[in-house]
Amino acid sequence: MNRPQTLTRAIAFAAAACVAAGANAEPDTDQLVVNEEIEMITEAAAPAHTENLSTVYSGWRFRADETQALQMDDFENPAMIFVEAAAEVWSTADGTKGNSCASCHEDVESLRGVRAVYPKWNEAAGEVRTLEMQINDCRENQMGADKWKYTGGDMTNMTALISSVSRGMPVNVAIDGPAQSMWEQGKELYYTRTGQLELSCANCHEDSYGMMIRADHLSQGQINGFPTYRLKNTKLNSVHARFKGCVRDTRAETFKPGSADFVALELYVASRGNGLSVEGPSVRN
Ligand code: HEC
Ligand code: HEC
Repeated sequence: MNRPQTLTRAIAFAAAACVAAGANAEPDTDQLVVNEEIEMITEAAAPAHTENLSTVYSGWRFRADETQALQMDDFENPAMIFVEAAAEVWSTADGTKGNSCASCHEDVESLRGVRAVYPKWNEAAGEVRTLEMQINDCRENQMGADKWKYTGGDMTNMTALISSVSRGMPVNVAIDGPAQSMWEQGKELYYTRTGQLELSCANCHEDSYGMMIRADHLSQGQINGFPTYRLKNTKLNSVHARFKGCVRDTRAETFKPGSADFVALELYVASRGNGLSVEGPSVRN
């Protein structure tokens, strides 16, 4: 990225921060009901471990009405085409063992509730697993199939399918017990200033949500809506791809999708949204 753009952005940010230092603008009171049926919780009392916020909001609340409308009806939601693609893959055998996902999990509805609790500690493996890690574990060890690329289309489509059957359920990620040290690591990353702009996630998404950065209405950077279909790149975007973009925007070296650092950050950010509804696949700009 060239220098003038870096400066423009830094100045834009500094200007925005000056205007409303310490005073976040709360979003308007729009209500999200999908297909006139699924009532989404887009606003909740902040979890006790999210010390610096009193209320958490879904990113949907910060979007323009036209963008919001796309997520209110599956026929309008451009992400649904990817969910349908994944539904086919779900029941297609792959790998040396001749299994499809359906061979063991039957209907995808059997995974209702799963999205809401990931990332999650896996006792047998002794690690915190994201949904992507779990899917690749099933592909490798249950199917004898190749792993999918962490932020690739097949993977993100499948996470959208699995998320879609949990829509409306409150995010409820566990941060205690064996997951705690990774959660602490994620928290530290969240508050660390990086890059030429020396900005942390918190500088933008905690201190400044509700403000405008150039033409963008800054949200709390919640991940209850992932994967998200972005109008900007007209495809589904995974959590780690989004993190990567935000880190890059601070002009910092970014972590690799699927890396332990991003898994820790995902665990932490997910836990900040405990109580909000699973919305994925959502629509954002
Ligand atoms: C041969 C059987 C088998 C196949 C095929 C299989 N899985 Fe699994 N899957 C399992 C088992 C067993 C578990 C529980 C493993 C564990 O907890 O470590 C599991 C767990 C999961 C979970 C986590 C559920 C939870 O409650 O935390 C997800 C998500 C999942 N599988 C998705 C998939 C997808 C997507 C596919 C196809 C790409 C697939 N699985 C293929 C056996 C299978
Ligand atoms: C320079 C300010 C800035 C920084 C620093 C920043 N972001 Fe963002 N982020 C944005 C903007 C602008 C958007 C798009 C508008 C929105 O959804 O807030 C965004 C969007 C997001 C979203 C999508 C939210 C949704 O509802 O779809 C997530 C998640 C996110 N950021 C996480 C992070 C994380 C984690 C970090 C730290 C690694 C971070 N961001 C750092 C500016 C920033």
